[in-house]
Amino acid sequence: MATELHRQVNSVEKESGQEQGGESGAAAVRVRSLTRSFDGRAVIDNLELDVPAGEFVALLGRSGCGKSTLLRVLAGLDREIEGEVLVPRRKAVAFQAPRLMPWKRVWRNVLLGLPGRPGRAVAERALNEVGLGHRVDAWPKTLSGGEAQRASLARALVREPDLLLLDEPFGALDALTRITAQQLVAELWQRRGCAVLLVTHDVEEALLLADRVLVMDGGVIAHQVRVDRDRPRDIADPLLAELRTELLDRLGVQAPEPAVHKVA
Ligand SMILES: Nc1ncnc2c1ncn2[C@@H]1O[C@H](COP(=O)(O)OP(=O)(O)OP(=O)(O)O)[C@@H](O)[C@H]1O
Ligand SMILES: [Mg+2]
Repeated sequence: MATELHRQVNSVEKESGQEQGGESGAAAVRVRSLTRSFDGRAVIDNLELDVPAGEFVALLGRSGCGKSTLLRVLAGLDREIEGEVLVPRRKAVAFQAPRLMPWKRVWRNVLLGLPGRPGRAVAERALNEVGLGHRVDAWPKTLSGGEAQRASLARALVREPDLLLLDEPFGALDALTRITAQQLVAELWQRRGCAVLLVTHDVEEALLLADRVLVMDGGVIAHQVRVDRDRPRDIADPLLAELRTELLDRLGVQAPEPAVHKVA
C-alpha cells in the first residue's frame, strides 16, 4: 500500500499540508535540502533523507548534532524550515520522557488530542497491545518508568501511524526494562508494519532493531549502514560486531566489549 505523503508547512508556505501523489510511491519520508537554523546557525544543513514505507531506521549522532531537531520537523512540531519535507498524514511521536498529563487517567492520556471523540475501548486495545491492560484506570504518577513509557507508546499507536517517530524512548529506563521495551517496539513494528525512525545513543540497540542505521553529523546524514540480518538478532553476530565497530568509529568512540542480549 502506497502511503500518501504530505508536505510540512514552513514559514513561507501558509497553507496546510498539500498532498503529494504517486511520484513518492511507497515512501514514508522524503526530505530534500532541509535546513533548520537557530540564531543564524544551521543545525540541519541541506539534509536529504528517504525512508521507504515500513522500514525501521535508527538515527545515531553526537549530542547536539540535531537528531531531535530533525525528529521534531518530521513530526510537524517545527515548521521554521527551508527545503522540502514529505511525511504521511498519520504519524506519531514518543519522547524520552513519557509526557503524561498527571490529572488524567492513563486511558484518557492515551486518547489525548485524538480527533473524533474515540471511546475508552480504543485506548484499552492499545494499552493491551503494550501489556498495560491492567493499568487502564491508573493515575500516571502511580506508573513505573517502564509502564509510563509503554503508556506513551500506546498513545502513539492509537494514531495508527504510518510513521512512528521515537526520540530516545528507552533512554531513561534501567537495563532490564530497556530490553523489554526494545522487544515490545520490535514486536509492534513487525505487527503494524509502519515505518519507524528511532533516535538513540545506543549503537547496539540500533543494530538489534533497525533495517538501516544512520549517523547524523555536520547537519546531514553523514554515514549509513544496512543491517542485513533476520530477527531476532544476536549482538555477538560477526556482522553486527563489524558494523558496531564501524559506527562507533564514525561516532568517534572507541569500541568497548558488547553486552550480549537478543531482541525479538
Ligand atoms: N529551540 C531552540 N533554540 C535554539 N537552539 C536550539 C533549539 N533547539 C535546538 N537547538 C540547538 O540545536 C542543536 C541540536 O539540538 P538537538 O536537540 O536537535 O540535538 P540532539 O542531536 O537531539 O542532541 P541530544 O543527543 O543531546 O538529544 C543544539 O545545539 C541545540 O542547542
Ligand atoms: Mg535529542
